[in-house]
Amino acid sequence: MGEHVLKGREGAVLVLTLNRADKKNALTGAMYDALSAGLAEANADEEIGATLILGQPGIFCAGNDIMDFMAFAMKGGVGEPIINFLKALVANRKPLVAGVDGGAVGIGTTMLLHCDYVVASERAVFATPFVDLALVPEAGSSLILPELMGHRVAFEMLVMGKRFDAARARETGLVNAVVSPDALEQEARAAAAAIAAKPREAVAIARALMKGDPAILLARIDEEARTFAERLRSAEARKAFEAFMSRPKA
Ligand code: COA
Repeated sequence: MGEHVLKGREGAVLVLTLNRADKKNALTGAMYDALSAGLAEANADEEIGATLILGQPGIFCAGNDIMDFMAFAMKGGVGEPIINFLKALVANRKPLVAGVDGGAVGIGTTMLLHCDYVVASERAVFATPFVDLALVPEAGSSLILPELMGHRVAFEMLVMGKRFDAARARETGLVNAVVSPDALEQEARAAAAAIAAKPREAVAIARALMKGDPAILLARIDEEARTFAERLRSAEARKAFEAFMSRPKA
């Protein structure tokens, strides 16, 4: 597993920690591959009862690496590692917990929609600026988010690009609990360990019943990815990526 994703075992919990703080944990192809491998490993391991995804203090994940977006725009497609990761999230059978401290942008937020329990810190901020980047929602978020919070609130997030603070995220069901930054990792670890300690088969069956038919979600992910790939090649998207890369530094 690459150094930008750390993998550890804590009892019956597999912990995957995003570890690219200098780039705000923006996800590269290798990081998606490492996350997918982690989820597959948990699925295959009877000892593992839950998987926990953590970021770094002050930043969960700044979304897809924008340099990679620019590369995909030249090559076409959205990149196999991304698609594989989204499919791995759908195929994941172990309860997935996340601990979010600081920003969760783009897929940093949409991956949470595939989690079963999310703990956020008081300084967590959630944003999906897809449309501002001339892109469209991904990771099945166009299906899951309106189901979770209703069309109009989801529209604020997915189309208007509004940032949700931790309180709003809690109120709209995006996260389960909000704690102080100091308590974040401990709370997330405790939640994952508590889930992992429950009767495994019953957890797996209950979870699968609640998730419903994965084919519907996979079809939406494919549809989003097709459109996303087209949008990546658009002139307005290229302009938005260039604006980010050449923005004045604070
Ligand atoms: N892709 C590539 N690099 C990224 C990145 C991304 N998604 N997000 C942050 N970085 C890089 C910056 O380019 C910068 O690199 P540098 O130090 O080599 O110049 C470094 O991470 C620090 O980012 P910076 O913007 O200076 O930090 P900040 O604390 O001021 O802001 C964010 C943090 C997350 C709010 C801001 O970086 C951001 O908006 N990132 C883009 C998020 C995004 O639009 N993602 C795609 C969603 S679809």
